[in-house]
Amino acid sequence: MPPSKDQITAANKASWDEAAERHRSHDQYARLLAGFARPGFSVLDATLTGRLQSLGLADKAVAQLCCNNARELLSVKNLGAASLTGFDFSEAFLDQGRELAAAGGIAAELVRTEIAKIPASYDGRFDIAMVTIGVLGWMPDLAEFFATARRLLKPGGHLVIYESHPILNMYDDRDKRLPPVADESYFRQEPYRSDNGLDYWRNEDYASTAFFWTFHKMSDVVMGVLRAGFAIEDFEELPHDVGNHSHLENQPQQLPLSYVMVGRREG
Ligand SMILES: C[S@@+](CC[C@H](N)C(=O)[O-])C[C@H]1O[C@@H](n2cnc3c(N)ncnc32)[C@H](O)[C@@H]1O
Repeated sequence: MPPSKDQITAANKASWDEAAERHRSHDQYARLLAGFARPGFSVLDATLTGRLQSLGLADKAVAQLCCNNARELLSVKNLGAASLTGFDFSEAFLDQGRELAAAGGIAAELVRTEIAKIPASYDGRFDIAMVTIGVLGWMPDLAEFFATARRLLKPGGHLVIYESHPILNMYDDRDKRLPPVADESYFRQEPYRSDNGLDYWRNEDYASTAFFWTFHKMSDVVMGVLRAGFAIEDFEELPHDVGNHSHLENQPQQLPLSYVMVGRREG
């Protein structure tokens, strides 16, 4: 029998907590600590920076759902946001976020919570809710996820999604063959179970607790955003990689590797 939503969430939380120490001991974490100590430091690329700037960041309250160590959220502060709030269920990753914030002297509220259980006291408080790189597949229930994003936003507030393209679910990101060989159906229904680790910084296997990744088609995301009560103002599929598939860039038969979508809360 497939695992329930609660079983998936509990399993994934254990795996993320387990992965946190691996990230803390990685060079990249030291580089982030050094980076945030420099004024104006940002890990955001031109695509996300441009979309956020086009919404205007001055005086804006920004939330990030599944903020991990908050490296992206803290970068938004350096682009001029008024306040920052990150939500994630892994206290171990949020602790790293607090260290990065301290290194940069950046004020940010980092809240440990499952996304679906974000307290109602945060409802309607944000101008922008960000969802970036490697989030939607952790959500077994997209309708619930987008409903949460909607309730956090003020009327007219914006949801900004910048994600790996779901077509990449068909390819094992440890398999660097070219042209790529698909080993999964784009339309897979059962959550994908793995116990090979989720340290995407080292991109190497390790024996981990089991975790589950849910395939959501591009149409599931588009329709999920619309059905949750957003108007889609911008949606673009992109040829560049935002995760661990950079070997698939610049191919003669180029796959879409990422996408950006901006929705405005209606009502
Ligand atoms: C791939 S990471 C996001 C990485 C981030 N975008 C970056 O590039 O640094 C996904 C995050 O989602 C969090 N997460 C997964 N499922 C969650 C849930 N149900 N509630 C809250 N956080 C969750 C994990 O703890 C993890 O920090």
